[in-house]
Amino acid sequence: MDVEGAQVLARAPAKINLVLSVGPLRADGHHELASVFHALDLYDEVVAYPAEEISVAVRGLHSDRVPVDDTNLASRAAAVLADYAGVRTGVQLDVRKRIPVAGGLAGGSADAAATLVACDALWDLGLGRGELAMLAARLGSDVPFALAGGTSLGTGRGEQLTAVMVGGTFQWVVAMARGGLSTPEVYAELDRLRAGETVGRPTVGHDVFAALRAGDPVALGASMHNDLQEAACSLLPSLRTTLDTGMDFGAVAAIVSGSGPTCVFLGRDSEHAEDLAAGLAASEVCADAWVVTGPAPGARLV
Ligand code: C5P
Repeated sequence: MDVEGAQVLARAPAKINLVLSVGPLRADGHHELASVFHALDLYDEVVAYPAEEISVAVRGLHSDRVPVDDTNLASRAAAVLADYAGVRTGVQLDVRKRIPVAGGLAGGSADAAATLVACDALWDLGLGRGELAMLAARLGSDVPFALAGGTSLGTGRGEQLTAVMVGGTFQWVVAMARGGLSTPEVYAELDRLRAGETVGRPTVGHDVFAALRAGDPVALGASMHNDLQEAACSLLPSLRTTLDTGMDFGAVAAIVSGSGPTCVFLGRDSEHAEDLAAGLAASEVCADAWVVTGPAPGARLV
């Protein structure tokens, strides 16, 4: 087989949680969630080449922090798909990272979703989106959304998705922190902070859906909330300074993304977001900052 000719390229988006309401810890070790996921036009790419075994190489932003053994979420995605479809061959995966690693932007989930789409094409399986979504849910709570993209209400452990209507695009500034945070550790910190409290069912208010439908950044900013923010700031107190600095620069809203430590800021429009990003990038409170827009499409071939 002509390896060069047969290669397949797919990409999948980063996500933020516009609302992340965390309910009780379940018996399976996950928390019951109600969340509004929003995909950003910030992508990881996966190139899939024909090979006899499954292997993965990672390059790009902080790629040295990503394991390249069979715990890598992209190689796990290829293995799960091969097993499901009875594929006996392998794949060489080349992951090109632009989404900050361990940033709370679901970069590993994006790699898994892009791998499912790339391998489905490389192996000529023709699986439907429903089948891929079912496999995605086995790989991690955020993988189904990386596959779907757009904006969705997520329930269960985050994998049960309902698409949400959005009347326009929003301009965000992503401020990358200098280190990473472990998602399980942030959830554990939230449990510690809540010890002794009765935790109710997670909920998402109607205001966020109305703001999204209207395409209104000010209303959206007022409706955003992340239950993991306090836990992430408790583990990494400098995040409070990052959030405050963005607000001082005039952000409409500031929030920790998912389990952090990436912070996201909402701009009024693209010019305002560019100014915000320039201010944050020049400050000492983050490693870098750049403008992205949402919602963005889910995992797809390019
Ligand atoms: O599902 P996933 O493997 O992406 O989750 C990683 C970890 O994040 C889980 O093992 C769990 O500690 C935490 N988590 C959680 N509740 C969720 C999603 C993730 O506690 N709904």
